[in-house]
Amino acid sequence: MDQDLLRETERLRETLRRHEHLYYVLDRPEIADADYDALMRRLAGIEREHPDLLTPDSPTQRVGGAPREGFVKAAHSAPMLSLDNALNEGELREFDRRVRELLAGEPYRYVAELKLDGLSLAVRFENGVLHRAITRGDGAEGEDVTENARTIRSLPLRVPDGPARFEVRGEVVMTRDAFNRLNAERERQLLPLYANPRNSAAGSLRVLEPRITASRQLDFYAYFLLAEPEQESHWEALETLAGMGFKVNSHRRLCEDAEQLLAFCQEFEGRRDSLPCEIDGVVAKVDSVAHQRALGWTAKAPRWAIAFKFPARQAETVLENIEVQVGRTGALTPVAHLLEVKVSGVKVSRATLHNQDEIERLQVQIGDTVVVERSGDVIPKVVRVVKHGDERRAFVMPAECPVCGGEVAREEGEVASRCVNTNCPARLKESILHFAARGVMDIDGMGEALVDQLVDRGLVTSVADLYKLALPDLLPLERMAEKSATKVLDNIARSKTQPLARVLNGLGIPFVGERTAQILADTFGSLDSIAGADAETLQQAQEVGPKVAHSIRHFFDEPRNRELVGRLRETGLQFTGEKRRAEGGPLAGLTFVLTGTLPSMTREEAKARIEAAGGKVTGSVSKKTHYVVAGEEAGSKLDKARALGVAVVDEAALMNLLGQS
Ligand code: IVH
Repeated sequence: MDQDLLRETERLRETLRRHEHLYYVLDRPEIADADYDALMRRLAGIEREHPDLLTPDSPTQRVGGAPREGFVKAAHSAPMLSLDNALNEGELREFDRRVRELLAGEPYRYVAELKLDGLSLAVRFENGVLHRAITRGDGAEGEDVTENARTIRSLPLRVPDGPARFEVRGEVVMTRDAFNRLNAERERQLLPLYANPRNSAAGSLRVLEPRITASRQLDFYAYFLLAEPEQESHWEALETLAGMGFKVNSHRRLCEDAEQLLAFCQEFEGRRDSLPCEIDGVVAKVDSVAHQRALGWTAKAPRWAIAFKFPARQAETVLENIEVQVGRTGALTPVAHLLEVKVSGVKVSRATLHNQDEIERLQVQIGDTVVVERSGDVIPKVVRVVKHGDERRAFVMPAECPVCGGEVAREEGEVASRCVNTNCPARLKESILHFAARGVMDIDGMGEALVDQLVDRGLVTSVADLYKLALPDLLPLERMAEKSATKVLDNIARSKTQPLARVLNGLGIPFVGERTAQILADTFGSLDSIAGADAETLQQAQEVGPKVAHSIRHFFDEPRNRELVGRLRETGLQFTGEKRRAEGGPLAGLTFVLTGTLPSMTREEAKARIEAAGGKVTGSVSKKTHYVVAGEEAGSKLDKARALGVAVVDEAALMNLLGQS
């Protein structure tokens, strides 16, 4: 064993773990994402070349497990009980009164924590390494979701200084930002939307493909430690958990009495909307473990804790009208216009109804009294009808686009009705907003008010026109002072440095969102290779199936889109990027040399396919070469392969290796 390599590997792992902890747990990154990625690639490279160095707790091992058939049931080490609820101030005071009575005059205090709205998870560690993660299930047994849980970056894979065996319980959540991004992406891909961050966290943890969980940006907040010896107080246990590397919510407070508990509840009910994650209440726990033991448990819940639930953010109002909005892909979205109502302090007069199917599911008509719900940043939605209106009337999807008058069509098997006119100004506005959005080209200041004016005045007829805008174009616009106009122009100019994946995402190709764009950019390395690849070659990229590949082909075959791409090229956007080998492709870790003329593809094509499947193509044969692919009139490379004993294959065998024979 090469000692230097071993040392480098351990050093890389330590460094990566430290940065993961800084980034995902403490929210205090010290290095750029690209530098972190480079370290991770270096480690993955070493482990690929030297599989004997691989350990299950290596930072590269978060995403690895293959898709599975289903989940296996697993018993909990101790029942996962739920909590009793207090629905108002009186019930919380009543809980405190009972505690005081049962503790018969002993002084006691509470730990107040946020009640995160996700799903609970029990995670066992053995000999310092994450061993098993089990969902709550029925409390006695849950589902073993270990492989998926390993992909949660804020959950440490190893805790070297802890007890030999211990269990941590906590909540798996998705931030509102991650949830909104995920749903925007799903909307684009015409997939059903998740109703709220909790459902999407649950859905993401319970998919059979760990790679999908990994892409969903889940978080794990620890709130309970089961270990020997027990800590003396819950507060101490939380501090211990944080010290072990777990993410523990910083919004926690020691409270002396019901008054202080209520103040904490009120404070966080007010701050609810500004927190990154959804909360549905506050959990109060008696701090001393000795007191907890004295108070004990009922069959369902501990007597030493209570969940103070915030009221649901719903309200009743009248649905006055349904209007139709036209989106980037031409999709017509029915929007409910409501008699203005306050929902937990916020005025609401619009809510989404998604599509015709949703209206039918709700059986809602104009004039009905409905319940609307607000959850976080998400647009409020109509959840149910409570009373039919006296003069109710059904909504009918218009046959013509309300913006351009173009034809509206609903394709077989699709939920959305669409305006088929690609020049529809509504579609153009939406595509500019998408192009400029955060996480895409990041053009700050390019909001709805500005885009409306730019399109309505004919200043912008495609996203490429954004790069032609100058100060005199913007100054006459409403709400555009010189300072803000200069800022927007700076931001437009700065967007030219956005990497290839973002440019590709910005084009708005149906089914190509953030993740697929990244995979395509990594696989093909340039916009031209992607635009020029046939559907089959495109499918060499991971996660790109026939539907996505055809959508990409269809997009680049359209002359208007080709013209747009040409104009974007002239503006100097990033059309090339760094090619990265697909980590888990069928040819990952294998090196190829091509020689001679292959019967049905050019050498360039063969190279693209091998690289898309994770393999590497080099120019000369050495002992490190895994395969030489030889065609007609192969020359000296074939001789060298034979001399070195390197495997020689033909095109058919290559297709076999690619899994495409
Ligand atoms: S303590 C015996 N603390 O709320 C202690 N639970 O019914 C059990 N939850 O589904 C739980 N945040 O997953 C606790 N800070 C927190 C929590 C919390 C959310 C969830 C928990 C369970 C439900 C309680």
